[in-house]
Amino acid sequence: MDVFEQEIRLVFRYPVHFTTGVFSATSTLLRDLVGERTLEVPARVLFVLDRGVAGAHPGIVHDIESYCLRHKATLRLAAPVLVIAGGERAKNDPRTLDDVLRAIHDAGLCRHSYVVAVGGGAVLDVVGYAAATAHRGIRLIRVPTTILAQDDSAVGVKNGINAFGKKNYLGTFATPFAVINDFAFLHTLSDRDWRGGLSEAVKAALIKDRTFFDFIEANAAALAARDLHATGETIRRSAALHLAHIGTGGDPFELGSSRPLDFGHWSAHKLEQLSGHRLSHGEAVGIGLALDTTYSWLAGFLPEREWKRVIDVLLALRLPLYAPELGRSLDATKDPRCVLQGLEEFREHLGGRLTIMLLRSIGEPFDVHELRRDVMVRSIETLAGIDDARADAAGQRAS
Ligand SMILES: NC(=O)c1ccc[n+]([C@@H]2O[C@H](COP(=O)([O-])OP(=O)(O)OC[C@H]3O[C@@H](n4cnc5c(N)ncnc54)[C@H](O)[C@@H]3O)[C@@H](O)[C@H]2O)c1
Ligand SMILES: [Zn+2]
Repeated sequence: MDVFEQEIRLVFRYPVHFTTGVFSATSTLLRDLVGERTLEVPARVLFVLDRGVAGAHPGIVHDIESYCLRHKATLRLAAPVLVIAGGERAKNDPRTLDDVLRAIHDAGLCRHSYVVAVGGGAVLDVVGYAAATAHRGIRLIRVPTTILAQDDSAVGVKNGINAFGKKNYLGTFATPFAVINDFAFLHTLSDRDWRGGLSEAVKAALIKDRTFFDFIEANAAALAARDLHATGETIRRSAALHLAHIGTGGDPFELGSSRPLDFGHWSAHKLEQLSGHRLSHGEAVGIGLALDTTYSWLAGFLPEREWKRVIDVLLALRLPLYAPELGRSLDATKDPRCVLQGLEEFREHLGGRLTIMLLRSIGEPFDVHELRRDVMVRSIETLAGIDDARADAAGQRAS
């Protein structure tokens, strides 16, 4: 039998910029990015904006329109700025995807046009999915406006929406044309989203970089108090770790069974779903990190003092360590409401053998292929105890 075998080698390259005031009169960053590599002059650009950002920054639509007018020789608004609902509902409601695809279609965008997505991780995920699938791929520029999107989701190569009750069931791997991290957006974030975004930086430090963990530990109070200097440095370092992993980790499109950047995520994704998205992704990741770090300790892999350092940092960042959904139906592991079901869903999402990352020390992870139910239950009880003590302490302060 004859066989042809063809190898295809591709290089992907995209910049991640750090700036403030990307749509201001003095910034030429976006114009230059588009101008540098465009085949269509002026390039047609569709802006899709997170409604939460539009509400918190009332002048932004006007600023975008003025920006395009000012640089009309290079870029041209292909349609009025499309404003879509922000937050997880953007990924849960299929109509959001339809709206973005229709806008791309009606504006007549082609593969040389640009979609600029401005918003939190959820909006970037749905717009990224639309841009990756319309005409099999339109250039996407991400302008993330939350800490989580700037330090994690927007710098990577994934997009997606939720379907069949599962997180990110539909999606693609697609590199962006460019990412612009603009710190000026962060001022208007809610406290919850501020803190939630820090959990992904803690994750990156725990699995990749012990000195970065030391930095977060030393600056935890400033980070929780919204100090922009400490937060900017945290975002840069976390984004760099995520990028380095994708670029040099050997598996950018996750073909293997191990997914190191998803430390703590098997339970986080399940908790988001079980809580009906009451818990944000960042908050659920905080709990997931606490859980897998506690398991690492109780299973005898991680020294107690290292475990305590991690828990103390999560507490200092005022991230949740526990949610009632963690303790539900633990006696019935086949019950879809049991968090342990998240293990099977995680395995299915990746394919192959279940692979979960645990810690031997801070910055030193390793893979396991099964988790002991009894140790996991003790881990959950330990976190419930810490959460009770925190609630008591807060109650005493209040009275
Ligand atoms: N693609 C990936 O690789 C990847 C990685 C991690 C997380 N994610 C996804 O990211 C999503 C979470 O993203 P998120 O944490 O950015 O939250 P989010 O997108 O859900 O936004 C949270 C809220 O903040 C609002 N908002 C956004 N920017 C704001 C600003 N500057 N000021 C005021 N309000 C603002 C939004 O409108 C929304 O109501 C989840 O769906 C998660 O699955 C994707
Ligand atoms: Zn995450």
